Order: sequence, then C-alpha cells, then structure tokens
Amino acid sequence: MRTIRDIDVRGKRVLVRVDFNVPLDPQTGDIADDSRIQASLPTIEYLIVQGAKVILCAHLGRPSGQVVEALCLAPIASRLTQLLGRPVNALQESSGSDVERATGRLKPGELAMLENIRFQPGEEKNDPILARDLAHLADIFVNDGFGVSHRTHASTVGVARLLPSVAGFVLEKEVSALSHVLHDPAHPFVTILGGAKVRDKIGVLDNLLQGVDKLLIGGGMAATFLQARGIAVGTSRIETDRLDSARDIMERAQASGVELFLPQDAVVAPDPSDSTGATTVAVGDITNSVAICDIGPVTTRTFASELQGCKTALWNGPMGIFETEAFSHGTRSIAGALATLNASTIVGGGSTAEAVIELGLAGKMGHVSTGGGASLEFLEGRSLPGIEVLKP
Ligand code: 3PG
Repeated sequence: MRTIRDIDVRGKRVLVRVDFNVPLDPQTGDIADDSRIQASLPTIEYLIVQGAKVILCAHLGRPSGQVVEALCLAPIASRLTQLLGRPVNALQESSGSDVERATGRLKPGELAMLENIRFQPGEEKNDPILARDLAHLADIFVNDGFGVSHRTHASTVGVARLLPSVAGFVLEKEVSALSHVLHDPAHPFVTILGGAKVRDKIGVLDNLLQGVDKLLIGGGMAATFLQARGIAVGTSRIETDRLDSARDIMERAQASGVELFLPQDAVVAPDPSDSTGATTVAVGDITNSVAICDIGPVTTRTFASELQGCKTALWNGPMGIFETEAFSHGTRSIAGALATLNASTIVGGGSTAEAVIELGLAGKMGHVSTGGGASLEFLEGRSLPGIEVLKP
C-alpha cells in the first residue's frame, strides 16, 4: 500500500477522506471528544508542508442522504482550524459548481472542507456520479479515514478507483498495529474481550483463537459464555442463538491450549439501568432477579494478574456498563492494568477507546484504534474495501 510519502503532492489538489465522525454532547451538540480529528493532524500537516492544496471530506452521523442541520461540519472545521492554527474553509456543499470554484481557488498549503458527505444520497450507494464529481475536484486521493474503510461508499471506494490513491498516516498506523497483532504478536499474547454482545465479537474470537495464549472474557457477552457452561445468570441478556458458538469457542480454546477465563464474580443489580440495590456476588450465586452489570473485584484481580508478563495485549469491549459509575470499576481497572504493562498494548476503537480516552490513559497505550466497526472487521481477518482499493 503506497502512502503520502511515496508521491509528489506539491501544488496538487489532494482530496483527503478523514473519519471525523466524532461524538457530540447530546445536550449542547458540542464536540465531546476530538481524538479522531487530532489523529489526522500529522497527515494534514504533512500535506500542508509539502505544498498540497488540501480538500477534506468527512461524514458526521447517519443523515441517510438528507441535510440535517445538527450534523453540519462547520463546528468540526472550526475545531480543526484551532488545532492547526490555520484557516479551514468550511464549504456549504460537497459537490457542484460552488465547490469546484472554491477548491479550484486553493493555493498550496490551503485547506477546504466539504460539507457532510452523507448529506448526499449517492454516498452510501457508492454512486458513480458522486464518485466522479469528487474525483473531478482533485488530482490525488488520500484515504486517512481508517474508521470508515469498511464501508464501500463513493468517498471511500468509488473515488479511489478514479484517482491515483494512497494511504494517509492514520491508515498506515492502524494497518501496521492491527496486522502486527494478527500476524506477528509477541508472546505471551493476551486478549481481553467484552462489550454487550457475543455476536459482535464471534468473528474476532474465531480469528484470534489461533494466535492468543490467554483469552479473558468480561462484559455483557460473558453472560452467554457462563450460561453455556451451565451457570445461572439471572436476568442478564443471553443470546440463545450464540450458546453453541460460545461452547464451540470454549472447546476449541481448550483443544488448542488457549487459557480461557470467565468472570468468577460479578456486580449484579435488579435493573441494569439503575445501580440501586447493586451487590457483588460469586458467579455461582446469581439469583434469578438480578442481571450482571460489571465484573467483580475477584475477576478484576485475576484478569489484571493474567495480564502481567504478557508481551502483547489486545483489548476490545468494556467489562461492564461503564457509563454508570457503580458498574465502571471493571473497565477502569482493566484500563489501569493495561496502562502499566511493559508490553505492546492495542485498544480496539469504539466504546473501548472512549473509555480509555475518558480515563486519560490513551497516552499510556501502544495503540488506540480510531475505528469501531472497522477495527472489529480488520481483527476478524476481513479485508476492508477502502484499504483493498489502495493496493496496486
Ligand atoms: C465510525 O464511527 O465507526 C465510523 O465513522 C463509521 O461510521 P458508520 O458506522 O456510520 O459507517
């Protein structure tokens, strides 16, 4: 895969697909976390220094081809202006004659940002006309939006087929960190998986089972694994259609010498949306009126101690409902344990990345992925269309 280092961008119009799909504060609409914007700064700054005319293309939310005022990119362009210390011209559209004029006037080192590309009905359909319009704006295409590389959209795949296309630094870093975990991890290699659903992680489990030494399973998905072992889990949500997959994973882990750990204790509550009445119990003692909301302190200590001495640690999925303080201890403790390891630590994107960033521990990790769905698909061993299209 060629990167921006391999081509001459001086004086060229460079269309850069970034993933600026940042979380917004539900009350104020302000940017709640600008990590994804910060992540692309090295690519953008490099292009500026090299004298490219930079045209940024991004989406925000899922407006499904409609203009949604709350999802306009002007606030993102202002945040980027602040971070770069130079103006980013936020355009009001993402194609058409005004956009062509504005981008055509750019001088080397100047930047413009197209309006939310998902306001266009053709984006998610990978419409060839939209792809052609985007290609018309530029001489070179750069994909720096790892988080959106699993989507076959006009701005990720369609346009890349029409222009000389290379990867930006975010994409290069993500592919290198995640490929390393899949193909060449230093051992011992421990994977911690959590999050609500087994179905979201089954592909990752399947793909990693060959390479890992230990598998630590927490979060909501642990309930299905416990149930598959015949342990009662009260009112916890069980994916009955995944019980066989969970059994299969446990059998294959045992057969291939992978040590698999499930929670020994749990924080349980009658209502997971409310911490009233929360208690900690051993997993054998979960009554039928409560649900698992977090891993308990014994499990946390076991998981932390199993992480000690590992050379590679991959974490994807919170250990409990960490948005609720009373159910956040497992996730906090695992983040803390990872932060102290002398190992290559890789944190999957989405809510796991959010937790690590919120705890101020992102800087202590080897790599925090900017991709949610994209990093999961990559770890499942699937090829991502937005990356495939860049290959010669
Ligand atoms: C993400 O937030 O994971 C990416 O920006 C992709 O967004 P999507 O799931 O709406 O395609």
